Amino acid sequence: MATQMFEGRGHAAVYQKYRFAPGKELKQTILSYLQEKASPAELVVDVGCGSGQGTRFLAEHFKKVVGTDISEAQIQEARDALSPPSVSYLVCPAEELPVEDASVDLLTSFTAAHWFDIEKFMREANRVLKPGGCLVLSTYTVDMSLHYGNCTEKLTKIFRESWDVLLKYSHNKIKHVREDYKEIFEAVPFPDKKRITDIFDKIPMTVADVVGYLESTSPYQAFKKNDPEAAKSLLQETEKRMLETMGVSSPETPVEFWVRHVCVLGCKAR
Ligand SMILES: C[S@@+](CC[C@H](N)C(=O)[O-])C[C@H]1O[C@@H](n2cnc3c(N)ncnc32)[C@H](O)[C@@H]1O
Repeated sequence: MATQMFEGRGHAAVYQKYRFAPGKELKQTILSYLQEKASPAELVVDVGCGSGQGTRFLAEHFKKVVGTDISEAQIQEARDALSPPSVSYLVCPAEELPVEDASVDLLTSFTAAHWFDIEKFMREANRVLKPGGCLVLSTYTVDMSLHYGNCTEKLTKIFRESWDVLLKYSHNKIKHVREDYKEIFEAVPFPDKKRITDIFDKIPMTVADVVGYLESTSPYQAFKKNDPEAAKSLLQETEKRMLETMGVSSPETPVEFWVRHVCVLGCKAR
């Protein structure tokens, strides 16, 4: 059965506001791989697209991009955002894509594959990809740090402490992220595949964005359901501690958010 964690309208709106798009290094890794494989790219399907963060990046490079997600609320957010006419969105499970056999040039999933039924999804990937088509599954990991002047160590510690509170509410599927997508990589049904675990991106954010990012995570949403007051005060306390450490008063103060990505890349035999 599908794991539905990003369903609520409120959660989808927070997600759209605070989830960042793929960074420069991740984008470069993907584009270089596709160039190496000389993969044609007429039709791209972005699975578990959420509110379209990765889908909009793909639209800059490919002719036709379809974003799909199991959550209606997420797809509504994606449709409401500004996208080029080459992009469309569909509500459907990753394991049952409404596309023909051997019709897709590139199948992607950003920060979502760990939620899928991996075995069924891989069967579906094999069915829908054309010979020579590529599969790209990426996620950012929990290796995150916050950079601002000489406060990096202290800010990162505050962020990690808040994250540790949330970990109690994390779903067991997050184990795939903690294991750098090892099991997901092993399940890719193509012999031509690789896994890159050291892609680093620096995402420009503000203190408010970092707190918003925490709010957009599935463990935070589970915490909020369980104890709304405690959840709210965790965010307030995180923001307060960050601002005090930085010696500033505005939550709009910029910080740099460093993330490590993992990317699984595969190519179906021609
Ligand atoms: C963490 S979000 C990632 C969204 C976006 N790709 C991004 O990069 O921010 C995970 C998304 O996967 C979707 N999802 C989870 N299970 C799914 C499934 N079985 N089929 C399709 N989408 C699924 C959720 O609804 C959610 O929008």
